[in-house]
Amino acid sequence: MWKKWFAKKPAKNKIYDTVERDKMPQHIAIIMDGNGRWAKGKGLPRAFGHRAGVESLREIVYTAIDMNLKVLTVYAFSTENWKRPEDEVNLLMRLFSEYIDSEVEDMHRKNVQIRFIGKLDELASELQEKFEKTQMHTGKNTGLVLNLAVNYGGRAEIVRSVQIIGEKIARGEMLPQEITEMSIHDNLYTADLPDPDLLIRPSGDFRVSNFLLWQSAYTEYWFSDILWPDFKPNHLIEAIIDYQKRERRFGGLKK
Ligand code: IPE
Ligand code: IPE
Ligand code: MG
Repeated sequence: MWKKWFAKKPAKNKIYDTVERDKMPQHIAIIMDGNGRWAKGKGLPRAFGHRAGVESLREIVYTAIDMNLKVLTVYAFSTENWKRPEDEVNLLMRLFSEYIDSEVEDMHRKNVQIRFIGKLDELASELQEKFEKTQMHTGKNTGLVLNLAVNYGGRAEIVRSVQIIGEKIARGEMLPQEITEMSIHDNLYTADLPDPDLLIRPSGDFRVSNFLLWQSAYTEYWFSDILWPDFKPNHLIEAIIDYQKRERRFGGLKK
């Protein structure tokens, strides 16, 4: 896999040579931000930015596959994004649906397991069905796990986990003192996955906007001014190289 990936690198692009293959992150999370500003900069309506953002996602997913990445989680729509004008929300929902129609088969052939995380029951029923079908269709795949976060909020995810635990306590199946970090973790959408090693936020804002709050306790952040529609595989590599230079201490001392 790696060989194939390195073979495909642009001949003069030295940056690919500096990736250390034995220090690859297992899980990368991306806040796909900046679509609106990208469109504005070109004098176009925001919708063009969102469409261009889908193209970026496509390219980044294929780079992740070629790199043999285990998990990629992308933030597509937050629990707060409903505050946007109805037209924009409708367009985003349509784009999710179109993305599935045009991309799932190719990703399936590449052994990608597609999952959706977020409050899916608040989405239109046709979209929910499409998500459900996609998850079933790709559920046995063993390659990249692609988490698409739609109507996702980190706080809502923690609340949901605590509610599931609360129900168990109410049924007498669990004691309050049995609530631990592990039990909260076990009821998150990402319970069976490693925490993100690297979280990328393009577009110049330095905040986490309610993404993977619990899981990112020790995640390394990488921020950049590049707007998501301009985010290319090279930028992903740049982020990984930067990540590889860092020392992760998890509260301990330097090795
Ligand atoms: C990210 O781009 C896409 C979503 C949040 C759905 P934005 O739409 O937030 O773009 P900016 O931040 O306004 O530039
Ligand atoms: C975060 O971007 C959500 C997604 C990219 C889906 P926002 O554009 O919604 O975040 P804020 O409002 O700038 O914090
Ligand atoms: Mg934004």
